[in-house]
Amino acid sequence: MSRTYWVETYGCQMNVSDSELMEGVLTADGYRSVSTPDEADVILVNTCAIRDHAERRVLGRVAELNRVKKSRPGVLIGVCGCMAQRLGERLMEQADYVDMVIGPDAYRSLPQIIDEASRNGGVVDIELNPAENYEGLEMRRASRVSAWIPIQRGCNYRCTYCIVPYTRGDEKNREPGAILAEIRKLADEGITEFTLLGQTVNSYRFDGWNFARLLRAVARVPGVRRLRYTSPHPNDVTRELVEVMAEEEAVCAHLHLPVQSGSNRVLKRMARRYTREEYTQRVELLRELIPHIALTTDIIVGFPGEAEEDFRETLDLVNEVEYDSAFTFKYSPRDGTPSTRMDPETFVAPEVAQRRLEELIKAVREIAARRNIAEVGSTREVLLEKRARRGNLLQGKTETNKAVLIPGPDEWLGRYMKVALTGTTGATFTGYPIER
Ligand code: 5AD
Ligand code: SF4
Repeated sequence: MSRTYWVETYGCQMNVSDSELMEGVLTADGYRSVSTPDEADVILVNTCAIRDHAERRVLGRVAELNRVKKSRPGVLIGVCGCMAQRLGERLMEQADYVDMVIGPDAYRSLPQIIDEASRNGGVVDIELNPAENYEGLEMRRASRVSAWIPIQRGCNYRCTYCIVPYTRGDEKNREPGAILAEIRKLADEGITEFTLLGQTVNSYRFDGWNFARLLRAVARVPGVRRLRYTSPHPNDVTRELVEVMAEEEAVCAHLHLPVQSGSNRVLKRMARRYTREEYTQRVELLRELIPHIALTTDIIVGFPGEAEEDFRETLDLVNEVEYDSAFTFKYSPRDGTPSTRMDPETFVAPEVAQRRLEELIKAVREIAARRNIAEVGSTREVLLEKRARRGNLLQGKTETNKAVLIPGPDEWLGRYMKVALTGTTGATFTGYPIER
């Protein structure tokens, strides 16, 4: 009988996409997926290292999965992704029930790693490989409606808080021909929504290609109806790129544009390489060329050296830009990143960071709710993606990436429908279909 696997994913969209890759590699090798970890011979946990909190949660989860091993001898547990890369062997020392530690560049050899672990026990493969871009491997995609397309791995920026350049290595870009061929094939199979992925996706370069050119080429592939990309770096938002977004109908009017802070002093210490003014100029350009664009962002509070005045500038920026939503984080020191070596006296007290976080969340929510309430009563095209967790409802998204719940049968999944928005919780909309 074929061996079975279970893959569990934490962290960013790149990890979601990497898990689809791992599932593809295992499927091609004859493995079969199962619907609970308790039935699996191989359990893989794909992890995130970006904040300490995320790592702790995963460690707790892996400890819990150890019960499967205890109940059935021979089961293997693997930790994959950024936390595996960051901790390497230390992970096995901390948790002796972990059989495999697998970094983000080792997924091609998953079957061999598993064989080796089942024969000889503990395997650690955390070699970063500048040549590995997983070309030629088939993913096992979870959705028949939307597809993640990794076009870039790693990162060449070195923001001083960020562990990613150390866990995923330098930027490497896929060949445009391979990206376009993959998208053509998926579009032929009926997928209509595509999200191009990369750590700083719009810094993409390959021979004579830049990101704007790639985006335009993808937008023109027949069958591509909604095209998104994440996450961009503000410095690589060029006029050419914004023009492509405005001109190509398939490119959605939404951009997640991480700002991190509204204070120039803090941005400098973060080594973000832009000023607040340069950032807001990009925002103005986006809004000028794409008036109905929705903007979302990431913000860190409590970065070393962030004074109350700096935090006020962040709040002020949030009020100025009026984001449609934002992910907000407390600074989490990551070993090996430059920010951990800053003067300890500049570190912000946890209770101060907590208070700032709460204040920021409140501001973000108020603005988001205000913007969303203003949309109630209007009609939007919604791509129905899945059955909602609660109630007898389908969940979909607007072009601007806002979630909408409507009543309807499963046959509607994958369809685009005109929906009248009837209400909002502040973040999510409710509505009803007005055209089949
Ligand atoms: N502490 C807190 N937040 C962080 N992020 C990245 N590194 C850290 C850190 N050390 C946030 C940034 C980034 C998002 C994915 O996670 O806001 O954009
Ligand atoms: Fe991290 Fe900065 Fe690279 Fe984003 S751009 S992955 S925050 S180093």
